[in-house]
Amino acid sequence: MGKPMKTAVFVSGGGTNLQALLDSIENGVIKSAEIACVISNKKDAYALERARKAGIPAKAITENFEAEALSFMKECGVELIVLAGFLSIIGKGILSAFKDRIINIHPSLIPSFCGKGYYGLHVHEKVLSYGVKLTGATVHFVSEEVDGGVIIMQKAVEVRHDDTPEVLQKRVMEEAEWLILPRAVELVAAGKVQTKGRMAVISE
Ligand code: GRF
Repeated sequence: MGKPMKTAVFVSGGGTNLQALLDSIENGVIKSAEIACVISNKKDAYALERARKAGIPAKAITENFEAEALSFMKECGVELIVLAGFLSIIGKGILSAFKDRIINIHPSLIPSFCGKGYYGLHVHEKVLSYGVKLTGATVHFVSEEVDGGVIIMQKAVEVRHDDTPEVLQKRVMEEAEWLILPRAVELVAAGKVQTKGRMAVISE
């Protein structure tokens, strides 16, 4: 196995997905990636605190995001970007600099309940109001189309009739997001994910 792939994690909020990545590096689920830096578009994101506790360079960028993020990532030698609860759209500059090297976790089974306006609790509110029996999480490559990139991994989670959006969000995080994001990062960093058209082929 070569040197671990230097990875930047983009965050906006609590950072529970970042924490899942940190824990997975600690317990060996992730061997092929290391977190070189954490970047937030929000100054007060608790995720920045989690990064600092783990001794990882962490930066809040609220102005001129794309240029600032690109230069910080260059400094850190970043090769892969993971969006973990990142609530902003990635611009063309970062998309082209990291082609097929940006992955995102979305808290639904794409193509359901995704795209513009579907983030955070709004996703789970729509899931409950529609009355689906299964939801879940999706890890996908990031492309110009919001939540439209090639799907790498998905995991289904049952919806209960008495769920609140908060209870459902927590179940999706615990039973899906925090499991499939670390696994997907390991597979991509280990070069085990090839794409044939829209189909991701994973070689174990
Ligand atoms: C949550 O809604 C999660 O489902 C989604 O992003 C939001 C914050 O996640 N992926 P995190 O706790 O900041 O990782």
